[in-house]
Amino acid sequence: MERTNHISGDVPRGLADVVVPGPQDAAVREEVSRRRTFAIISHPDAGKTTLTEKLLLYAGQIDVAGTVRGRKTQRAVASDWMELERERGISISSTALSFSYRGHVVNLLDTPGHQDFSEDTYRTLAAADSAVMVIDAAKGIETQTKKLFRVCAIRGIPILTFINKMDRLGRDPMSLLSEVEQILGIDAIPMNWPLGLGEEFRGVYDRGRQMALLFRPTEHGSVQVPMEELDLTAALDGGSAVTAQRVRQELELLDGAGVPFDRDRFLAGRMTPVFFGSAMTNFGVGLFLDSFLELAPPPGLRRSDQGLVPPDRQWFAGQVFKIQANLNPRHRDRVAFVRVCCGRFDPEADLTLARTGTKVRIKGSHRLFAREREAMEEAYPGDIIGLANTGGLRLGDTICEGPPFHFEALPQFSPECFATARCPDTKRRKQFTDGLEQLANEGVVQVFSTREAVREPILAAVGELQFDVVKFRLESEYGVRAEITPLPFRAGAWVAASADLVAVEGLARNIKVAFDHLGRAVVLAEDAFSIRYLQKKEPSLDLRPFTDNLFAPTA
Ligand code: G4P
Repeated sequence: MERTNHISGDVPRGLADVVVPGPQDAAVREEVSRRRTFAIISHPDAGKTTLTEKLLLYAGQIDVAGTVRGRKTQRAVASDWMELERERGISISSTALSFSYRGHVVNLLDTPGHQDFSEDTYRTLAAADSAVMVIDAAKGIETQTKKLFRVCAIRGIPILTFINKMDRLGRDPMSLLSEVEQILGIDAIPMNWPLGLGEEFRGVYDRGRQMALLFRPTEHGSVQVPMEELDLTAALDGGSAVTAQRVRQELELLDGAGVPFDRDRFLAGRMTPVFFGSAMTNFGVGLFLDSFLELAPPPGLRRSDQGLVPPDRQWFAGQVFKIQANLNPRHRDRVAFVRVCCGRFDPEADLTLARTGTKVRIKGSHRLFAREREAMEEAYPGDIIGLANTGGLRLGDTICEGPPFHFEALPQFSPECFATARCPDTKRRKQFTDGLEQLANEGVVQVFSTREAVREPILAAVGELQFDVVKFRLESEYGVRAEITPLPFRAGAWVAASADLVAVEGLARNIKVAFDHLGRAVVLAEDAFSIRYLQKKEPSLDLRPFTDNLFAPTA
């Protein structure tokens, strides 16, 4: 799916290397150096949730694994907050988890793994400074991993790889490395090496320290596993002779023919350090967490329409990357998630919404640990803050102190699924309209109306499952039942300049004209061919791809 575009579209040419001037602050710089903000990407079922939980276990945030996410039978999921997620057992909305570990502040952006929710994931990646790619050792690189990897690659986000489920007999580790290199086109450098495979997986050899770490399993991997550090010979002596010979040969091969790890290439997204382990049994998780802190970059320069913005500026600026309403059914609020990009965030400061030039009033700012919130008095680059009830904020917005500017736009996608939404209960029309408006604001779906059926808006989404989310949320949050009927459209385009839209519908087969909430026109068609045909027939029509930047500051 190559639907992202213009990822650097906002940044004027010539400004790409210019660092925006302004006072810098040593205290902010100190905080920046402690921060690590990352997201975990994977194909569903590769073990992202399990690894997240085990990272929290090793960071001392939970004492016993199973509190964040139970086994299937008791899916009590602290990082998933919506009922639908629990029903389906998939994570729909991104979660921001923040914790301290060994003098660092780690911000983990949890991203949904299901392919139909990928837009949200892509926007979340825009808020991360690095990503951890989890791969199932038996399955290798899967479709969703590839798509997410590409978004990271376009944005130049450095990636660490965790090859999971080594406790199961999977693919040969060497072939997994070459698959990463071939399919993703980056160098894969093993930082550790598995000592035994499947049932014989007993530990890993840390290539940097040249030490073997042997683990003793615990029940369900619910607590940190006891670990023993040995030299390689002693470690291999305890296992089978076949494994010992194989590991020796593989390590020799890697040392002899392998490329050394190069931090600059990693930071440029051209090389990934690879760690083998098992999130379920905790084997290799502690080593991975410590290596992650060492390797992952702190917040860096962020692109904007004024050039590159350094994180240690004195003035605060942040970008809205996610909006979600009704996180907590008891509060019925709307939270804009802001990634702090530079400066110190102070809720009392004079903040401007760059798109409108108006002041932003902060009524409540929170740091999030799943469902629990903690009032936030200050935040630094890399931190994610939830701003409650700030109605005017939109996805992609920049809020800042000092002279306003805009951060680079968020990635935007072309919908491929369309449907009409109808509210059969005329008494609840207002709730229906309000609900749809909110879901459109959150980027869950796009909503269009047509002149002939104003009461039956057209919903547009990248994946079908998004419509289930709309239905579910309208019912649970707005008490309104919606009837959603699929439409045959598969493609569309913005009509940039004013045109004779009445005539347009007659020009090509099954073309429909609709309007978004700002009155901007789109044409919808059953295939991309019809759109191209329309353009050819009417060259004066200024058609723009759907991926053109809706979230741009001027939108
Ligand atoms: P996801 O968030 O990427 O979708 O994956 P998740 O962590 O939910 O893991 C998917 C399945 O893989 C789960 O099994 C999980 O227990 C299992 N798993 C995760 N890591 C490992 C590992 O290192 N080794 C092995 N053998 N399995 C692993 P499930 O049967 O779907 O659920 P459950 O009943 O175990 O919770």
